[in-house]
Amino acid sequence: MANFSISELYDLSGHAALVTGGALGIGQAIAFRLSEAGASVVIADVDLASAKKTAAQIEARGGRAQAVRADVRVAADAEAAVQAAVDAFGQIDLLVNNAGIFPLIPVLDVAEEVWDRVIDINLKGAFLFAKAAAKQMVQAGRGGKIINLASVDAVHPNGMATPYNASKGGVLMLTKGLALELAPHKILVNAVAPGGITTPGTDEARSRVASSAGIPDDAILQGWLQRVPLRRMGEPDDVAKVVLFLASRAADFITGELIVVDGGYLLS
Ligand SMILES: NC(=O)c1ccc[n+]([C@@H]2O[C@H](COP(=O)([O-])OP(=O)(O)OC[C@H]3O[C@@H](n4cnc5c(N)ncnc54)[C@H](O)[C@@H]3O)[C@@H](O)[C@H]2O)c1
Repeated sequence: MANFSISELYDLSGHAALVTGGALGIGQAIAFRLSEAGASVVIADVDLASAKKTAAQIEARGGRAQAVRADVRVAADAEAAVQAAVDAFGQIDLLVNNAGIFPLIPVLDVAEEVWDRVIDINLKGAFLFAKAAAKQMVQAGRGGKIINLASVDAVHPNGMATPYNASKGGVLMLTKGLALELAPHKILVNAVAPGGITTPGTDEARSRVASSAGIPDDAILQGWLQRVPLRRMGEPDDVAKVVLFLASRAADFITGELIVVDGGYLLS
């Protein structure tokens, strides 16, 4: 085994990464960190305008990035996004399945359409992108890494989030199944489980719940923080740094694993 220096361990120069939902929030922070480590990044998002802005920010910092419109529920979009990485950067070495939604609805009010949407985006989307990327990685024969955004809800249910809890539990087992089957191809598959992270998605969810309960946003936030031993919300970069670790050579003997990034939430 090569004896890499610390900087070599985290050097992703010459690597091409694809980040789903990379336009905003955690995905954007991941795209920034992977680019900072030297990777070229394709940002695949339904929100093409925001994806283009994120790609432009990466390029303004001297990185290489490309934005593509993709709905993770659509197999053809997964294949096209992987092809975009190959066309732009010659290969794909790293996939981050980050796109996800988290509607907060009491279980007895969850419409079938909401159930399908959550499972399709959070779970089927991760499968479709993993399949498309892994096929390309297997063909290229250089191995690769796939990192899935699960959630603390994958192992500990949250209220008003039954479809979401189920989708993220599925992402955890998808991660393990892929890790087992793709190991012979030197494709490592891991997951990250964030706790509460401040993003456009969580800001919107908190406002919606607060207004329907007729209480201030801050009351919801303070209630949540009581359950977090480190007493703060995470920042998107708290998650991005862990994804960078899993993407790096420092994690070359880790596969099928879930790393929790939650400020101690699961302890309480
Ligand atoms: N923020 C948290 O507290 C938290 C906690 C645990 C897990 N997560 C997970 O982290 C991931 C990112 O969360 P976030 O808070 O940054 O979300 P966010 O809502 O802030 O951003 C999500 C991004 O995904 C994109 N997206 C949504 N649906 C898509 C689709 N069908 N196809 C392609 N792109 C789509 C959006 O346009 C957006 O750019 C999600 O998988 C989420 O479940 C977040």
